[in-house]
Amino acid sequence: MNKNIIIAIDGFASTGKSTLAKCLANYLNYTYVDSGSMYRAITYYALVNNYLPFNNRNLKDFFKVLADVKLNFIFNENLGFSEIYLNNINIEKEIRSILVSNHVSSVATISFIRKHMVNLQKEMSLNKGVVMDGRDIGTVVFPNAELKLFLNASAEVRAERRHSEYVKQGVKVNYEEVLNNLRSRDLDDSSRTDSPLIVADDAIEIDNSFLSMEDQIFFVKKILKDKFNL
Ligand code: CDP
Repeated sequence: MNKNIIIAIDGFASTGKSTLAKCLANYLNYTYVDSGSMYRAITYYALVNNYLPFNNRNLKDFFKVLADVKLNFIFNENLGFSEIYLNNINIEKEIRSILVSNHVSSVATISFIRKHMVNLQKEMSLNKGVVMDGRDIGTVVFPNAELKLFLNASAEVRAERRHSEYVKQGVKVNYEEVLNNLRSRDLDDSSRTDSPLIVADDAIEIDNSFLSMEDQIFFVKKILKDKFNL
């Protein structure tokens, strides 16, 4: 039995992918990679360096600088998960802003950016037990992943969850704005030509609209035990 499996978790925005992924990674002592944070980091870089909105000219310039933008994850002992660094600066907080959320899905439609991200994601996962979450993990990044999960929940439930996270952090944003952002990202992510968000044929679908995180974790741990003896 191969103990070092790859777990790919895909799904719509704010379906609790990263909470589930972090929990499974801790449980199995695997590496957790939040692929969404990489798209967010690149979007943040493009915003602060005035590349957005992209046009033909600045997209060419962006293509040239992309390879030199350093993205890496460093494990935070206190938090129990890895945080993302852009050119050696921790930008974990900055990338969760509504401004980044409003731009990230259009940045994520650009093929050369996706190609670069996918290469980095594969490199980070070489010869390791990995839990990676995103939109194209089970379809494009790791089509041979041993376990693929696809999470969904109603847009209203997801918006409530994300909105209450913002409230806890003291961020002033209203529920409608969060709901609109989720809906527009879902649409962009599902309708793009390159690596759209679709359910892989062999993915297990979980609608967690009425499922607690504890029950969901229990369900997935049972799959790990029954199918992989983990
Ligand atoms: O956490 P949340 O569900 O809000 O999103 P995220 O995982 O942080 O991803 C942010 C955005 O990055 C998504 O809406 C996608 O547009 C893009 N993304 C992607 O295209 N492919 C991935 N593998 C991960 C994220």
